[in-house]
Amino acid sequence: PLDHLESVWLFGYGSLIYKADFPYLQRRPARIHGWQRRFWQGSHDHRGTPEKPGRVATLIAAANETCVGMAYEVTPDVFAHLDHREKNGYLRFFTTFEWLDHQEDQQVEGLVYVAGPDNEAFLGPASEADIAEHIARSEGPSGPNPEYLLKLAEALRELEADDPHVFSIEQELKKILQR
Ligand code: BEZ
Repeated sequence: PLDHLESVWLFGYGSLIYKADFPYLQRRPARIHGWQRRFWQGSHDHRGTPEKPGRVATLIAAANETCVGMAYEVTPDVFAHLDHREKNGYLRFFTTFEWLDHQEDQQVEGLVYVAGPDNEAFLGPASEADIAEHIARSEGPSGPNPEYLLKLAEALRELEADDPHVFSIEQELKKILQR
């Protein structure tokens, strides 16, 4: 259904912010409304295993919240690659992106992958200290789960994003890693 388009914008809010393993035409910092980043999704195939899933980011609908991330302009064939890579419960939605890098209040419609509470790998809420403990002991084919969280927190600081959830998990995780 995307094949008639020359290019599509994709919003990254997790590992896509700091690592894109696909070709893209351009990338721009962006914000979406009505969604909140939460480490509530289990990862069976990237940062954990089916027996010991890791914890990765998904988006939770939240009317008055916003989420800062990185948007990539890609050709439609990239979605075949991502649909395969993100088979662990993520579905695509269209939403409005607001650009962070320009003053004019310009926006575009684009796609975002969301893993909802109805998917099998969903873990749901836990305290940020417990999420940090979970991340500290998880690892999968894409690497250690702490690396995912720490790189994301670093990338969010570079974007000057306000994200108390991620920064609080980061703080707890750093305490655990120093033990
Ligand atoms: C992300 O890193 O933003 C992401 C990519 C694919 C699925 C879900 C999230």
